[in-house]
Amino acid sequence: MKLIYTGKTKDVYALEDGNYLLQFKDDVTGENGVFDPGANTVGLTMEGAGKAGLRLTKFFFEKLAVAGIPTHYIDADIEKATMTVKPATVFGQGLEVICRYRAVGSFLRRYGMYAEEAQPLDAFVEVTIKDDARQDPPISEDALDMLGILTLGEYKELKELTQKIAAIVKDELAKKEIELYDIKFEFGRLADKQIVLIDEISGGNMRAYKKGEYIEPLKLEQLMLED
Ligand SMILES: Nc1ncnc2c1ncn2[C@@H]1O[C@H](COP(=O)(O)OP(=O)(O)O)[C@@H](O)[C@H]1O
Ligand SMILES: [Mg+2]
Repeated sequence: MKLIYTGKTKDVYALEDGNYLLQFKDDVTGENGVFDPGANTVGLTMEGAGKAGLRLTKFFFEKLAVAGIPTHYIDADIEKATMTVKPATVFGQGLEVICRYRAVGSFLRRYGMYAEEAQPLDAFVEVTIKDDARQDPPISEDALDMLGILTLGEYKELKELTQKIAAIVKDELAKKEIELYDIKFEFGRLADKQIVLIDEISGGNMRAYKKGEYIEPLKLEQLMLED
């Protein structure tokens, strides 16, 4: 097993059989000890965050498989906090695709002149470039095409997949009377060129609220996975 990437919240290993192993860590993104799913720095370490994030990720990836949505998921070992996945190549040096149902986070920071906090957004999709040094800047469909990161056709495919997947997550949260405000995904291409969802779907990738009150990732994972 060979370490190929050390991320903020996970380490990535190449397995002998060609698959990848994602090791979930107890580090979460944020700043100065405060969790923020939009941050691109590790803000704090929370005991059990890795396992909890993996449990929720496993839950959602298994729901997606049932819905026939292609992902990189193979299986997960909760005790070891590891997930086995199919290797993918990312678009450019990596993109994040965000789906928004209410205006919070960076959307509100950018468009506060026109948007009110928590105003409804109709599964609004936007893409950011994974570029920590430049604070993950948003990028338009035309810029993605012009810079050769995504074709217009691929953009359309990613947008549709994003809205489908976000709707599934939103419905699962709604079953527990939790409202999804926004969520962030990563996509890649498998060896056969198919575009699939990669990475994770955990509390660290979304903002969820119950009765108008924000729910922290560990609490979300607990609420979602208790019977
Ligand atoms: N199936 C996959 N194939 C290749 N890379 C993947 C796959 N799934 C996730 N990744 C990448 O592995 C890394 C996971 O570690 P993470 O700590 O989330 O990194 P980051 O700090 O880049 O967010 C991410 O860069 C993500 O793009
Ligand atoms: Mg990440």
